[in-house]
Parts: sequence; C-alpha cells; structure tokens
Amino acid sequence: MTLTQLRILKKEGEKITCLTAYDASFAYILDQAGIDMILVGDSLGMVIQGHDSTLPVTIEDMIYHCQQVHRCVQNSWLVVDMPFMSYATPSTALENAARLMREGQAQMVKLEGGAWLVETVRLLTERGIPVCAHLGLTPQSVHQLGGYRIQGRIESEVTQLRDDAIALQAAGASILILECIPGLIASDITADLEIPTIGIGAGSECDGQVLVLYDMLGITRGRKPSFSKDFLQETGTISVAITAFNDAVKKGSFPGKEHTFN
Ligand code: KIV
Repeated sequence: MTLTQLRILKKEGEKITCLTAYDASFAYILDQAGIDMILVGDSLGMVIQGHDSTLPVTIEDMIYHCQQVHRCVQNSWLVVDMPFMSYATPSTALENAARLMREGQAQMVKLEGGAWLVETVRLLTERGIPVCAHLGLTPQSVHQLGGYRIQGRIESEVTQLRDDAIALQAAGASILILECIPGLIASDITADLEIPTIGIGAGSECDGQVLVLYDMLGITRGRKPSFSKDFLQETGTISVAITAFNDAVKKGSFPGKEHTFN
C-alpha cells in the first residue's frame, strides 16, 4: 500500500481499513488479512501499559513498538503516533518524526491537533515525512477537553473542525483521522477534502474506518466504546475477526447507526 493507492481508494469510493497494532504477531495477522493501514497508536499506553491515558507514552516506547510491527508488515501502510509533547514545537517534531521514520521504520507519522500544527505539518511534509492529522476527540488533550467526550456538537466546534481540516490539508497532511464527532459533521468534512478521512466514532461516511485492535477483539479494559464492535464474539478466531472487520468496512455494513453519534 502507498499513499497514492490510498488516494485512489478515496477517489474510487472504496473504503479504507485501518486497525492498531503494537507487536509483530498481531501486525502479521492484520497485514495478511489485507488491512490497508496499520496504526501503531499511542493507545498502547492504555491497552498495553495499563495507564489511564496516553500521556505517559514516550518516543522510546513508540519507536520500540513500531520496530516490532514493522518487522511483520509487508503490504499495509504503516503509521505511527507521535506521543504527547513530542511535537510541541516544529523543531522538536522534526527531530522526533525523523527518529520514528529512521529507527521505528514508520512510513507516516500522526499528530493530534488543529491549525496550531500548520507550521509543523508544512515543515515535516517539505522534508519528506508524510503526515496523518487527527481532529475531534484528541486523547492527548483529555484534560483540556474535560474528559473523553464527543466533540463537534456545538456550532463553534463544528466551524473550528472544518477550518482546521482545510488548514491541515493545505499544509500538506495526507490523511485525516476524525474521532468521536457526529456522523453528519464527519460526512461534510469528508466531502470537503481531497485527502482521505478515517473515522473512529465518526459515522459511516468517512473514507475509511479505524478501531483500536483490543476493542474489536472484545478485550477492552473498563467501559467498551459505543462506536466499537467486538468482531471476535461472532467469529471465534482472531484472524477471522480481522477479516470480518475488513469485509464489513469495505461493504459499508460497519459502522452501523448504533455505532454513530448524532
Ligand atoms: O492511539 C490510537 O490508537 C489512535 C486511534 C484511536 C485513532 O489514535
């Protein structure tokens, strides 16, 4: 998979599939199942390390897990999260993104945030580092946002989301993750952009879907997110569950209305 192929999928209306992975064995299963994109998410701070948020995750943690995943990925596009404060300034971002590409062997880095990242996104992309932006519920800002809650429900937030999406695309972002926003807002943003949008709790009209691997295998610690689905429950084996997710997204049967915020 390449960025060009991902853009073609959007153009041709074929849904893009993405799951998180943090180690070699799961990465191998995802890659073999034909998942288009694998995200080494900083959600590893919660699902692997047992923290209550993603904030304690370090750049060393991300490099370590990205290396494991990279060893078993042959086909999928490999994206890695830049952890909390690793891109607080453009020059810090450049240095840390270079480490994630050089040492972690990622193909793309992901950053959470809006227009304040424009200078950083421009700097990275001009230096040959593809960027995936992330708007809506941005977990690294959980304390600023007042908890893990849906975004884009009031007019000012909607306007901000739309403006941020356009600004990040103009700065050079190649993919945009939309997390926990109403389906209609995600649909409008997707229609406005040339770059693919990948939704998580953002309805079925995004160009693709991403889930945290452990949630879609039913091993969520604590409350299960309402926008996720346990694919292992109805399939019985991990590899069939991954294939079922891939098929459901490609066919447009996941996410359903019950997984979508209004
Ligand atoms: O860290 C992560 O797993 C993510 C996804 C939820 C998009 O950012």
